[in-house]
Amino acid sequence: MDDTPRNADFDVALTMDAAQPPVLDRTVQGLLGTAMDRPDGPLKVTGTARYAAEALPENLVTGFLVRATITKGRVIGMKAEAVEAMPGVIRVMTGHPLLRNPAQGQAHQAPEQILPKVDYFGQPVALVVAETFEQARHAAQALVVTYEEEVAEVDPNAASQVDKPKASQLDQGDLEGAMRSSPVAIDTTYTTAPHSSAPMEPHASIAEWVDGRLQLRGSYQMLKHNVAELADSLGVDEARVRIHAPYVGGGFGSKLGIAPEAVAAAHAARELGRPVRVVMARDQVFEMTMRRTETTQRMRLACDADGLMTALAHEDRVSNLPGEAFSEPTAQGTHFLYGGANRRFTHEVARIHRPCAGSVRAPGEAVGMIALECAMDELAEAADIDPVELRIRNIPDTTPEGGQPYSERALERCLREGAERFGWSQRRGMAERLEGDWWVGMGVAAAVRTNMMEESIARVTLRPDGTALCETDMTDIGTGSYAILTQIVGEMLGLPREKVEVQIGDSDLPKSSGSGGSFGAQSCGSAVFLACQGVRKHLAERMEVAPDDLTLRDGRATGGNRQVALTDLVEAPMSAEGHVKPGETEDNFSIAGYGAHFAEVGVHRDTGEVRVHRMLGVFSIGRVLNMKTATSQCHGGMIWGIGSALTEEIMHDPRDGRIVNHNLAEYHIPVSLDVPQLDAMLLEDTRDDQANPIQAKGIGELGISGAAAAVGNAIRNACGVRVRDFPATPDKIF
Ligand code: MOS
Repeated sequence: MDDTPRNADFDVALTMDAAQPPVLDRTVQGLLGTAMDRPDGPLKVTGTARYAAEALPENLVTGFLVRATITKGRVIGMKAEAVEAMPGVIRVMTGHPLLRNPAQGQAHQAPEQILPKVDYFGQPVALVVAETFEQARHAAQALVVTYEEEVAEVDPNAASQVDKPKASQLDQGDLEGAMRSSPVAIDTTYTTAPHSSAPMEPHASIAEWVDGRLQLRGSYQMLKHNVAELADSLGVDEARVRIHAPYVGGGFGSKLGIAPEAVAAAHAARELGRPVRVVMARDQVFEMTMRRTETTQRMRLACDADGLMTALAHEDRVSNLPGEAFSEPTAQGTHFLYGGANRRFTHEVARIHRPCAGSVRAPGEAVGMIALECAMDELAEAADIDPVELRIRNIPDTTPEGGQPYSERALERCLREGAERFGWSQRRGMAERLEGDWWVGMGVAAAVRTNMMEESIARVTLRPDGTALCETDMTDIGTGSYAILTQIVGEMLGLPREKVEVQIGDSDLPKSSGSGGSFGAQSCGSAVFLACQGVRKHLAERMEVAPDDLTLRDGRATGGNRQVALTDLVEAPMSAEGHVKPGETEDNFSIAGYGAHFAEVGVHRDTGEVRVHRMLGVFSIGRVLNMKTATSQCHGGMIWGIGSALTEEIMHDPRDGRIVNHNLAEYHIPVSLDVPQLDAMLLEDTRDDQANPIQAKGIGELGISGAAAAVGNAIRNACGVRVRDFPATPDKIF
């Protein structure tokens, strides 16, 4: 995905005339921004909501993926007949180009192409289809595959091929000179572990061809792209692929692009003429979907005696398979968060054969902010300036590299209000607070996440019975799309929530941004908002008033001297489409979500075990669409921050790069006992006029950005140990 921030291109006069408050601030239904419960909540907790694998079409058979047990080379043989003779087994399939990870961007090739090439340990190389799941899995485990093996490099630090993408290098001013001449300078290197998205719902697909058209029940984030990818892999026109994904049990980036189970199911269903279900086993979710890269980040920072930064360098190394276009944009947030005239950015991509790396929640900032915000803490310590104060002093007026203006940015407020609410003034000096066996300390970090917007279309229809229907191919990956779209429509058309029906998760509906990059709610929400504007215009015509003089509330329209029930005003369905897309202008604002994290931890004086006692995040994202779901996103991000700080780490076998801890028992995601009561606070009064028509920015990834650094900085304050290699497991403390 292109992570370049872009401004929205929308009809400014329609919604944002400076002389007029935006329509949303003049609506009176009182739904938008409230902590409305999810309409889909009861369906989910009662098991009524149907997830991808839960359908039972007639004649259904099951496929189980077979994983490569070498790191690099070629499959030269497969004892398919032996397995096909096993009970219930229908077919062993291989050679389909996209049984490989589709992220590798291979175009369709004829199915007779030779046996698969292997690029990483665990890569899917075949599918075994059988009447039952147990039969398919048993046969898949029994399948003997022979390989021609090649030597593979798996160590990012020893890679012989290292790319330096030109667009990611920057040298501004005189970094070395500034480092030498400044009274305070630090040169420090951080490393972060690879992460797994590990969604609770594994990747699952049921493929069925109906009249020559593929119907795929899947678990995906961005349906219009997923349709295109799947059609490409099948060599068919996009019109012949339809994806249903009404409920998605978490994605975190791993379901942005079509994954091997969908491709395998689609090919198998076509070949066998029966519906085929393929669900990844938990270890396959770890191995076959994309991981977040490990990072090495050298940070050089300098400031004058007042703490004003003079130098900032962020030089990183990440990894991916050879030929992959994606590389973790580690320094993304560093470019615009703080000033400092002399700057250097280098970005290296080691080409190695660990499993494919891709976007995992907040690609860039999630790990880049760990290095930047811990390094800022080191600078504050070296300059003997309070770390909250140091950050505030270095908030630039315009972007330090392009001189662009910033849109709404409440970073200072988040830091100050957070410090106040958290009791930052109670923070003591390093290793000054021993309570029983625990050293206790506090840490702070800024949060920042680049804001993106993506093209989105939505249709809203007001029906004669006084209900409204909202249609778009948006997905709800647990984030609250059903809720916020209900709220936008209800607010704009003056309808209580029960009168609004939201249909999403079907690729035949108008094409939205889908869910990813924190752009879903704002992009898709803006399209829905514009569609509602269209409906309001029709209603205003009926009422013979100007759209601005129309008030809609509780199913009634008021304008001029009239009040009319919508059921009397609307004789036939009244529809409008909203369409929003990124702008093409060059004089962009710098648009991002901002915040501040505060953490208090205890470090056990004998074992080095770290416990987070409490954590506060204060965030500013422009308009908040739903206080409950937005807060919940912040909680999720902060929890992942705790995981990144203390426990989460993919372990690669140094010999072959394979993921050793490919399950939830050994890949340690924080559980309830690791997470204290979290305090997430969203500024309610901010609006970002530059971001999009609804003045809202992304929240899904802001909560993770910087969170781990606050924990790392608290460890330092508690016990004096500066951890520079995350996660900060007890062996790294004492
Ligand atoms: Mo996100 S990593 O774009 O789901």
